[in-house]
Amino acid sequence: MIHLDVKKLGRIPDGGGWWAHGRGSRQALASERAHKQRGGYTARANQPPASRTPGCRITNFHISTLLRSAYPLFGSNRKVGWLYLPSRTPWKDIMSLVITGATGQLGRQVVETLLERNVPPQEIVAAGRAVEKIADLAQRGVHVRKLDYTDAASVGKALKGASKVLLISGSEVGQQVEQHRTVIEAAQREGIQLIAYTSIANADGSGMKLAVEHQATETLLEQSGVPFVLLRNSWYLENYTDQLPGVLAQGALVGSAGNGRVSAASRADYAQAAAAVLLADDQAGRIYELGGDKPFTMAELAAEISAAAGKHISYQDLPPREYAAMLVRVGVPEGGAEILADSDLGIARGDLLVNSGDLSRLIGRPATSMAEAVRSAVAAI
Ligand SMILES: NC(=O)c1ccc[n+]([C@@H]2O[C@H](COP(=O)([O-])OP(=O)(O)OC[C@H]3O[C@@H](n4cnc5c(N)ncnc54)[C@H](OP(=O)(O)O)[C@@H]3O)[C@@H](O)[C@H]2O)c1
Repeated sequence: MIHLDVKKLGRIPDGGGWWAHGRGSRQALASERAHKQRGGYTARANQPPASRTPGCRITNFHISTLLRSAYPLFGSNRKVGWLYLPSRTPWKDIMSLVITGATGQLGRQVVETLLERNVPPQEIVAAGRAVEKIADLAQRGVHVRKLDYTDAASVGKALKGASKVLLISGSEVGQQVEQHRTVIEAAQREGIQLIAYTSIANADGSGMKLAVEHQATETLLEQSGVPFVLLRNSWYLENYTDQLPGVLAQGALVGSAGNGRVSAASRADYAQAAAAVLLADDQAGRIYELGGDKPFTMAELAAEISAAAGKHISYQDLPPREYAAMLVRVGVPEGGAEILADSDLGIARGDLLVNSGDLSRLIGRPATSMAEAVRSAVAAI
């Protein structure tokens, strides 16, 4: 990492570039943290040049970015030096937020939220496998890059020049740890300043099968040396609302969660929380336990569905084996059915119960409630 206490700042005569002159140092990340603790005002190199003024610090410059820029002029350790940003150094290469899984539902909503918050599209890299799904984002100026978790070269290219990465957990159960490892190792090589990882609620104490790969990924992050922040998401409300047509046809909500309560929240709220974390400073080392404000039982969910649909829906609790078999009968693959039944057992134990208030704090308003989600889903049927 490089810091520069800016004494002078000016534009390069050809119009596009900037120079800065001041006292600089190349420091290890640990000393960067110490530097921040000393309270120095930090201007990120990723901010538009207009926000930089003499007296501020330019920090977090990737050495690789400078070398790529072909003008790597910078003083040696703790000497007065120059930082020269030629006009042809594109700002996107200096600062960008990479969103993996941007072709998926959560990733797209994160990108949309960043755009709504006036992040310039050229500072966003929407990275994903089936990039044809996000061609519209490219038309809006967002960088769209191919990133397949199973292809390290594509991951490396997608992360090039980025400062922060939102690693959205993969969807292929059993493959996730290796896939996430590929992203974490690329982040190490690229000198990424922060990985935000979408983990699972209470990952460190959860007994759910789904939590195993999240726990392993959290360990990889700890061992990597890359600064990281954990977004430990509880269940999506959509896991329930997407099933409403079937539930209404059947007249029953079926599961194995007993009287357990779940702090489900909407995918959009989790996306807004992720965007807020990406845009905030000093997130390294934080752990957010994210979930709805008001946990609910399956019986309460059934009652809410009944009220919204004007039809009695009961909650039918089954032993996990029977529930998994029922899911297989309605077309869920065996592995998926087992995971869902196991997740319900986790809910019964309280594994997806969150009472941190982190989600509503990050999004600056109450989280979308189960009742609101059910009412709008029923109205949309
Ligand atoms: N908390 C919950 O209740 C809950 C529920 C479901 C999922 N999740 C987790 O949260 C993640 C995001 O949720 P979501 O709603 O956005 O899921 P989603 O719509 O299914 O999106 C999954 C994303 O993962 C990508 N992906 C899968 N394998 C990949 C690979 N090998 N390389 C690159 N990308 C790959 C998909 O890419 P393609 O578009 O190319 O397929 C897609 O972008 C999921 O992946 C899962 O880990 C959480």
